[in-house]
Amino acid sequence: MSQATSSALPLVREVQALLRTRRFGKALRGYPTVDSTNTTAMHWANDGAPEGSVVIAEYQRAGRGRHGRAWLATPGQNLTFSVVLRPSLPPPRLNLITLAASIAIAETVEAYTAPLTTSIKWPNDVLLEGYKCCGMLLESTLAGPTGTTVILGIGLNVNQRTFPTAFEGRATSLLLQTGQHVPRAPLLAELLGRLEQYYETLGTDDEAEIRRAYERRLHGLGRTTTLCMAGHEPPITGLVLGITDTGALRLHTDDGPRTFHAGEIRLANTFY
Ligand code: BTN
Repeated sequence: MSQATSSALPLVREVQALLRTRRFGKALRGYPTVDSTNTTAMHWANDGAPEGSVVIAEYQRAGRGRHGRAWLATPGQNLTFSVVLRPSLPPPRLNLITLAASIAIAETVEAYTAPLTTSIKWPNDVLLEGYKCCGMLLESTLAGPTGTTVILGIGLNVNQRTFPTAFEGRATSLLLQTGQHVPRAPLLAELLGRLEQYYETLGTDDEAEIRRAYERRLHGLGRTTTLCMAGHEPPITGLVLGITDTGALRLHTDDGPRTFHAGEIRLANTFY
């Protein structure tokens, strides 16, 4: 069971005072410790949490990353939170949420780290100066009691100073790149504002701008990349051409242009 309630967490009160959103973060539950904010948010969603509800924790005992990996974050230094979404998008277009969130995160990080630059490693890692500072985990229930529910889980490394050896040379935080402590409450309030803005753009005439903005930041665009796909050997190598309008990766391989819907990219001669 998760411990404590929203009022116990100073971060929650600070964020609530700063929020300028219509829906995102208006319902906000904070916990000192949970297993995973994604799990807590899914339970709350099943109990009827409105769209935009947010669960944040200072520490996750069993934070989850993509591909069954763990997400490890030092307690009280970072942002580990999940947003309840109830999109009206059909399943093949749910990946667009990843695009919208990636841009929202990249822009928010840059607002605190300029002139440093962010990029997005397909599908949903945000890099700062080429090192990963943020990961996302989307988990969905397509036919749940309240229709399609997506839990957008975000782990943003804010003030963490050290990382386990396995992540050395790959992971970073805003503090490590700027040398400055970054206050988490205004950062989260701004991030929730941009998340709401870009999420609400999905399905409108302006949606194409999200794809363009994502491609402008796409890590490795125009370079040769290796794509590793679970259960698919050997890895596929090709030139990164961009993404499709549903967020799939376009590569020019030895067999010509191909589109990939899942996998992880690794750029030749880099950590990624
Ligand atoms: C990845 O890069 O592999 C995705 C990491 C996602 C981590 C976040 S932290 C908040 C939310 N709760 C989790 O258990 N995971 C996500």
